Amino acid sequence: MDETALKDQARTRLNTGLRDLWYPVVASWEVAEAPTGVTRLGEKIVLWRDGQGKVNAVEDRCPHRGARLSMGWNLGDRVACWYHGVEVDAAGRMAAVPAIGRCEAEKRARNRTYHVIERAGAIWLWFGNDGSEPAELTLPEEVNGGEWEAILCTAHWSCNYRYAAENVMDPMHGAYLHSVSHSMAEGDKTATMRARATDHGFVFEKTNQSGINFDWTEFGATGAYWQRLSIPYRRAAGPGGSFGIVGLVTPVDSTNCRVFFWRCRKVQGWQRDAWKFLYRARLETLHWDVLEQDRLILEGMDDDAREHEALYAHDAGLVKLRRLMEAEALKQVTPKVEA
Ligand code: FES
Ligand SMILES: [Fe+2]
Repeated sequence: MDETALKDQARTRLNTGLRDLWYPVVASWEVAEAPTGVTRLGEKIVLWRDGQGKVNAVEDRCPHRGARLSMGWNLGDRVACWYHGVEVDAAGRMAAVPAIGRCEAEKRARNRTYHVIERAGAIWLWFGNDGSEPAELTLPEEVNGGEWEAILCTAHWSCNYRYAAENVMDPMHGAYLHSVSHSMAEGDKTATMRARATDHGFVFEKTNQSGINFDWTEFGATGAYWQRLSIPYRRAAGPGGSFGIVGLVTPVDSTNCRVFFWRCRKVQGWQRDAWKFLYRARLETLHWDVLEQDRLILEGMDDDAREHEALYAHDAGLVKLRRLMEAEALKQVTPKVEA
């Protein structure tokens, strides 16, 4: 393949989502009794729980005539299409054709299937590259239970997923975009920024200020691409000190994404209950307000905004993330040469 064709493929891959990664696709509560249909990385997927509560995920297309299986019925170990009742099981096989009693297509694998993990209150799917086996998924400690309480907020944003990821790689916007918010009114409006390598990625931080505003952000790759930051809280905002945010963004298609933000605090015992109550009663609305500010800015940007930028030093963090993702996209579309 010539270099231009390869670069085109890499650009498309980048636009619709890198593979060889786990992605959160919905919050756990979104998959209940009925089958749930989603589009992620441009693929239509039906999710449903079997009798034991285990989530299955297969391509959301009926092998008979192509209706969306998610519009049908949950039969436990399989889903039934609403249109003519064809049943598809968790292995993606056409397991029954009730209208004729049987058919030759039965038991043959027809639909794409996905590896599923349920963790931190979300359902995660493995999006492999050419059928690659899933990597181990290690999440930041804030969302692994233990000493941390993490509350998941998720929302649909009508912008390419990279704008959402780049937004988190840009701490300086906190002092401007969120300047009137409850937690980001403090501190300098200017800063010198630097990047520093970590075991699984890098930190991008202000050199003149820490622990006052949104002052640092971290990117990590541990089976999924995650980002983490912390924002100091006033005493009135309850127990547990600084407030951690772990964020992941999952592409829906090239112009839409689903963001997942876990709001985390290190609290135990009665403090955990106090914090959860305070969060639900008072803080959640404030946090949605902050997220809305991000959403409005990003949805207002043109899809090709990154072609016409005048970047400065504060953008070094997001440029670093871009380079890393561009290199990964190129690697993923380059044909493997057998040794
Ligand atoms: S399209 Fe699904 S059963 Fe016919
Ligand atoms: Fe923001």
